[in-house]
This record gives sequence, structure tokens and C-alpha cells, in this order.
Amino acid sequence: MRVLAGLIMVICSANQAALAADTNAGKVLVQARCASCHQPADWLGETTGSLASLIRDVVSGKVKHSKFKVELSDAEIADITAYWLSVRK
Ligand code: HEC
Repeated sequence: MRVLAGLIMVICSANQAALAADTNAGKVLVQARCASCHQPADWLGETTGSLASLIRDVVSGKVKHSKFKVELSDAEIADITAYWLSVRK
């Protein structure tokens, strides 16, 4: 039962993060922590879902990231995804 309640909370907060994605917060995060190496154009062909899950895989370590570990909350991942896709050409 506790596991189920936890699962429901995770699902709800993931949905909330997707709904509440803040493009400006994403811009600040990207400029501070990602823009020295990544351009919005790096993500051509990605959708909101695929880019968010790619970043999630990098954070979890499933996809190896350059030389350092990327640490982001789900909300930050949603914000960064929203920003990158909004400025991508
Ligand atoms: C110091 C340079 C550097 C910084 C800063 C950086 N990255 Fe990366 N990142 C890389 C390199 C290098 C790769 C590997 C590129 C490749 O192999 O295509 C990579 C790969 C990735 C990938 C996987 C791309 C793929 O197609 O597999 C994601 C997602 C990613 N970075 C997200 C981020 C995010 C989000 C930030 C900011 C929080 C960030 N990176 C900051 C250098 C950096």
C-alpha cells in the first residue's frame, strides 16, 4: 500500500512538473550549467518526451555524460526541456 501511494505521488509530481515547466527557469539553468557545451540545435529531432527522458537518463547515469555527473530535479529537467525546445531552430 505504501509502495502504491509512493508510486501515485511520483506519477502526480511528474505530471505537475510537465504542466508547470518554466521556460525562464530553464533558460537560467541552461545558461549557468549547460550552454558552454550544448546548443539548442543539438536537440533537433527530439520531442518534449524524448529530450526529457534523455536528460533523465543522463542524470540517472544510464546514459554516460561527458566527464561529469549532471544533477537535476524532475522539475529542472522539465524546465530545461521546455527552454531548449522553445529556442531550438
Ligand atoms: C563541459 C561540457 C558539458 C556541459 C557543461 C554539459 N554537457 Fe551534456 N554532454 C557533454 C558531452 C561531451 C556529451 C556527449 C556528446 C555525445 O557523445 O554526443 C554530452 C551529452 C549530453 C546528453 C546526451 C546526448 C545524447 O544524444 O546522448 C544530454 C542529454 C546532456 N549532455 C545534457 C546536458 C545538460 C542538461 C547539461 C546542463 C545541466 C549538460 N549536458 C552540460 C558535455 C557537456
